[in-house]
Amino acid sequence: AELTQEELFQQRIDADQRIEPKDWMPEAYRKTLIRQISQHAHSEIVGMLPEGNWITRAPSLKRKSILLAKVQDEAGHGLYLYSAAETLGASRDQMLADLHAGKAKYSSIFNYPTLSWADIGCVGWLVDGAAILNQVPLCRTSYGPYARAMVRVCKEESFHQRQGFEIMQTLCEGAPEQKAMAQEALNRWWWPTLMMFGPKDDESPNTARSMQWRIKRFTNDELRQKFVDMMVPQAEFLGLTVPDAKAKWNETKKGYDFGDVNWEEFWQVVNGNGLCNHDRLQARVDAWEEGAWVREAALAHAKKRAARV
Ligand code: ACO
Repeated sequence: AELTQEELFQQRIDADQRIEPKDWMPEAYRKTLIRQISQHAHSEIVGMLPEGNWITRAPSLKRKSILLAKVQDEAGHGLYLYSAAETLGASRDQMLADLHAGKAKYSSIFNYPTLSWADIGCVGWLVDGAAILNQVPLCRTSYGPYARAMVRVCKEESFHQRQGFEIMQTLCEGAPEQKAMAQEALNRWWWPTLMMFGPKDDESPNTARSMQWRIKRFTNDELRQKFVDMMVPQAEFLGLTVPDAKAKWNETKKGYDFGDVNWEEFWQVVNGNGLCNHDRLQARVDAWEEGAWVREAALAHAKKRAARV
């Protein structure tokens, strides 16, 4: 019997062939990719805000220039990702309009405030650490443009993570007050970072199908487990303690057991009621409105040039 288009598509996926923009794809595959890639792009852009908050207060010129470079990298990641979503037929104006109207999701993590310099350490060490774990497998995601964007993004994220760890290490080797600041930041960032991986597998509506299409290469719970296994020893190395009494090595499963995430808090934040949701969105809307004259000037300039030839 002849295979349907959908069966042929799945065969290509199963053979680990990349899907390219002009290839046939099921509408639901296109839709789920636009959803994930645009949410990912928004996360990169909104993610500039908590760190941007410390650029003027970085403790030295060196720290300031590193942080500036890192925040600029995040802007670049957002732009590659919007471009990747455009190859699927999404329009950038529409994606941004959805973000600004509060209709689009972005990562819950960026709705938490950065209260001390140690928070910048934690964002690099934990948040970018979680981002890398999630994104390295996405370098092998089935959609070509998304996979290729992830290669460069992951290289830059690795640098971000090292700089975050190095901030933590410097604080932990410093005065008792600095070490206390590092521990206090870890206490606030630990659980929200575990939430970045998304709901538990049995409560994740998209995981099963995204795994079948090889958009996702690991489930939310698999990545969360890898993260805990990687980070608990790093915290110990720093002389810090993760704020979870249940985090204990389990020799049988060769991984750490750990406590339950507060899923009520997670959904509150995802649904717009976190500490900073309102401020983050307002900052993006203001930036868009205040940048209108730049877009208009660029357009006028392009028209003039086009008229000249
Ligand atoms: N914050 C906000 N929303 C979330 C989060 C989170 N941490 N986790 C899951 N959700 C949303 C999903 O987007 C989905 O929403 P939707 O169906 O309304 O679009 C819903 O909760 C249910 O979750 P899942 O079914 O598990 O969704 P999905 O299969 O898309 O998995 C995940 C979520 C793991 C975040 C996936 O989309 C992914 O890997 N995305 C790419 C990486 C990414 O976006 N990283 C952003 C943070 S890292 C950074 O920017 C530095």
